Amino acid sequence: MNNIKDYENLISKRVLLRLDLNVPLKNGEIVDETRIIKIVPVLEFLIKRNSKILIISHVGRPKGKVNKDLSLKPICEYLEKKIKTKINFISENILKIKRDDLFKNPMEKIVFFENIRFYAEEENNESNFSKHIASFADLFVNDAFSCSHRTHASVCKITEFLPSFAGLQFETEVNALKKVTIEVKKPITCIIGGSKISTKIDVIKNLIPRFNNIIFVGGMANNIMRSKGYKIGKSISEKNCGSIIEEIFEISKNTLCEITYPEDVLIGKSPDDDAQIKDLKDIADDDLILDVGPKTLKKIKNIIENSKTILWNGPAGYFENPNFAKGSIEIAKSIIKKNKDNSIYSVVGGGDTVAVINQLDAIKDFNFVSTAGGAFLEYLEGKELPGIKALN
Ligand code: 3PG
Repeated sequence: MNNIKDYENLISKRVLLRLDLNVPLKNGEIVDETRIIKIVPVLEFLIKRNSKILIISHVGRPKGKVNKDLSLKPICEYLEKKIKTKINFISENILKIKRDDLFKNPMEKIVFFENIRFYAEEENNESNFSKHIASFADLFVNDAFSCSHRTHASVCKITEFLPSFAGLQFETEVNALKKVTIEVKKPITCIIGGSKISTKIDVIKNLIPRFNNIIFVGGMANNIMRSKGYKIGKSISEKNCGSIIEEIFEISKNTLCEITYPEDVLIGKSPDDDAQIKDLKDIADDDLILDVGPKTLKKIKNIIENSKTILWNGPAGYFENPNFAKGSIEIAKSIIKKNKDNSIYSVVGGGDTVAVINQLDAIKDFNFVSTAGGAFLEYLEGKELPGIKALN
């Protein structure tokens, strides 16, 4: 994979830059700017080298149709303020634009196209569409690792028409994931939460033979507790996942991977209740499991203490209520402590887990915090991602 940072002379070169500015919006306002912060370095890099930048991104899933609620305009304006550089937002139909229409003003540095998913050709990975967009530029840079599991025109097909490079963030993300899959320092531990075990089963199966510990927390652990014969009351869980869980334990038998799940929990009668500690055998029919208990937390912290690499995806409990945030916060703090003395390599991924870390203002205290949801998981499943393949 060639990286744009090694390109010799970018002066006046037109760089088509694929970014993932698919940030959460509420009433047109940006709720979490983590993805925006991460792409500032590539923009600053290109601006410093006097390139002409053409930004392509998507937000949401407009399914090939113009949808005003999914306009990138507010995100473009936010970015403009962030990098303190004028950006020309182009809302007209991309199919009608010609190369010479762009950068007519020689002072202009950045143009930003409207949501590329307004065109059905994007998700169809269409060749003529890609060729047309490629005609605007001299080089293609992909700094949207989080889209690299999508076989879309602005991720894959475009690379057939322009010299193509990975962006700064893209390479950092792939290198971090290599450190938890290929170039691993052991013992290596995975803490995995979230609610649906079936969505992560392929990741778990791929990790068991390579990891020393897999710790199940959150809704994911509820499924295991239930399949081991414990009551879980009204707690969230997934139906019909008994055979998946059997399979997980069966695979782990033939490996050195130890599987851990809660031995005590914090419950409430509703999500906004106070917390009560319970052993698994004492869970009542109207209880909601909302966090791990103190014995479990002690065990998890001990495993973290003895690990050299850690991968964390999914909070330990319902952290939106501070009464049930202790598990997630203590896990974060244990990793941060080891990170500070350089005794652990830590990779964290998943929207909710990133939100926990943001609450602690601790993104900088982890080796790598991934904002890629689907791409992160598919990489961990051991799949070859089409966006990476296209760049190679
Ligand atoms: C993401 O948020 O994971 C990426 O932006 C990809 O979005 P998608 O799942 O809609 O393809």
